Amino acid sequence: MTTDDAYVIAIDGPSGSGKGSLALAVARELGFHLLDSGAIYRLLALKAIEQQLDLDDEDQVVALLDDFDIRFEAGEELSIPILDGRNVAAELRREKTGDAASVVARHPAVRARLLELQRGFFRPPGLVADGRDMGTTVFPDARFKFFLYASPEVRAQRRYKQLINMELSANIADLQAEIEERDARDRNRSASPLKPAEDALIVDSSLMDLAQVTELVLSHIRETERYD
Ligand code: DC
Repeated sequence: MTTDDAYVIAIDGPSGSGKGSLALAVARELGFHLLDSGAIYRLLALKAIEQQLDLDDEDQVVALLDDFDIRFEAGEELSIPILDGRNVAAELRREKTGDAASVVARHPAVRARLLELQRGFFRPPGLVADGRDMGTTVFPDARFKFFLYASPEVRAQRRYKQLINMELSANIADLQAEIEERDARDRNRSASPLKPAEDALIVDSSLMDLAQVTELVLSHIRETERYD
């Protein structure tokens, strides 16, 4: 594959739909780079929490981007997020950070400032980008666009199993309410709301496991390439 052949695969969807695991599996299979755009919003949210800022204050949050020192180091399984020189993988995964990310991500000025940073992840041989607006705003010319859906009930059950496996306590009804609240915030904001791009293939993963969804996406890519 030459440099000119490099392209973007955009994978968007609501939280807990499994798009992160799908993006990782597709990137590994194709040898592509990976952009976890949610991690960038989480890093910004974490910095805002640590500085005890008001997350709803757009000016305060956007000012953090003047000195936003983040990078991703190669880890054994997943890449390791580094904020101001510190490994913050554990803090980033917390529900509280995800929720705060969804709040800071509502600010249009924040989204505008993060555009170039995200686009900078595109390098040969190609990029798998996962988030909420990869196919609509960040990479509107992506060669492939997928929108991964799963019902709130199914996402709450998956999250419940993950937490129980980690020996943490959990309540399915609370998890589903949190998921629906985050969906509503991500969907109803004015700047780049969560919605499928017009040319996205919508994949309902409610009744499929990760291996089946990965196979569906990879075979769509391979079949399209064969006839292009
Ligand atoms: O994918 P995630 O759960 O790590 O994302 C955390 C929050 O960040 C999500 O609720 C909304 C926001 N986000 C966004 O607005 N746009 C993106 N491209 C990725 C994430």
